[in-house]
Amino acid sequence: MLIHTIAEVREQVKEWRKQGLSIGLVPTMGALHDGHKSLIEKSVEKCDKTVVSVFVNPIQFCPGEDLDKYPRTLEADEKLCNDAGVDIVFAPSPKEMYGEGHILSNDFLTYVIPPYFYTDKLCGKSRVGHFDGVCTVVNKLFNIVQPDFAFFGEKDRQQLIILKKMVKDLNIPIQIIPCPIVREESGLALSSRNKYLSENDKKEALVLSKILFNIKACYEKGIKDCKLLHETAFSYLNEHHSLEYLEFRDADDLEEKKIADKNTIVFIALKIGDVRLIDNIALENV
Ligand code: PAJ
Repeated sequence: MLIHTIAEVREQVKEWRKQGLSIGLVPTMGALHDGHKSLIEKSVEKCDKTVVSVFVNPIQFCPGEDLDKYPRTLEADEKLCNDAGVDIVFAPSPKEMYGEGHILSNDFLTYVIPPYFYTDKLCGKSRVGHFDGVCTVVNKLFNIVQPDFAFFGEKDRQQLIILKKMVKDLNIPIQIIPCPIVREESGLALSSRNKYLSENDKKEALVLSKILFNIKACYEKGIKDCKLLHETAFSYLNEHHSLEYLEFRDADDLEEKKIADKNTIVFIALKIGDVRLIDNIALENV
């Protein structure tokens, strides 16, 4: 069922609650692919009812980013959701979410601001305010749907870590379920932004997973010094790649690691032409 208003979602959810049913929420920005689908399937399997939100959230885009050209494919998204057994596809307008004159400035909107320690690094460094926008919209979605479980991908690992922190710090009674990264056979992590890549760019984009897989292999062979592990990346990079970061950080609090251990995540972001891609890998599956 496709729903555009908050009031209708609340009405439906109230019914489910009366019946004692469990509710899963999968927040997305649409242009759904198999990565999103894996989250949706997990929710359908675990919960009695599943809500998928499809909302390109304007307040998490920075000036000059791809808000206007972000792919919008609601009809196909709705079909994917229906086929997967989703109960509600919630696709509000920006006006429904943020009111009249929908606001890109925190002068006019109550924001949820995650701790600076978590947002001053990795993607937060180049995307200033991005995680404020993410936490704010996810909080709103949590309040609208009031799910028992919410599903997020490890593809956006910094986002996942920040949202877990938000739920803990604000005592939100929702369990966050992390879901593994879905990749193409080539290794490329699925992303809605892959649509921006030409065939050739797509080949160049394999560099992200190649670097990460190689670092993991070196770690497994016994190299633990992050500086040495970092250096292994350079042989993969060429003039098509503009590396934004390659960092070793803790899976819980994003503290920088000098020596890699079982709780270390390797994060990478790089640009191919205008397209910015991110990926990450856990050095051990814990
Ligand atoms: P979006 O980029 O649409 O992603 C929605 C969810 O799908 C996120 O939890 C993301 O980590 C997950 N996902 C994307 N690609 C994946 C892949 N290849 N494997 C596994 N999971 C994947 O992330 C957002 O939207 C927004 O920031 C949102 C949380 C919806 C707030 O607006």
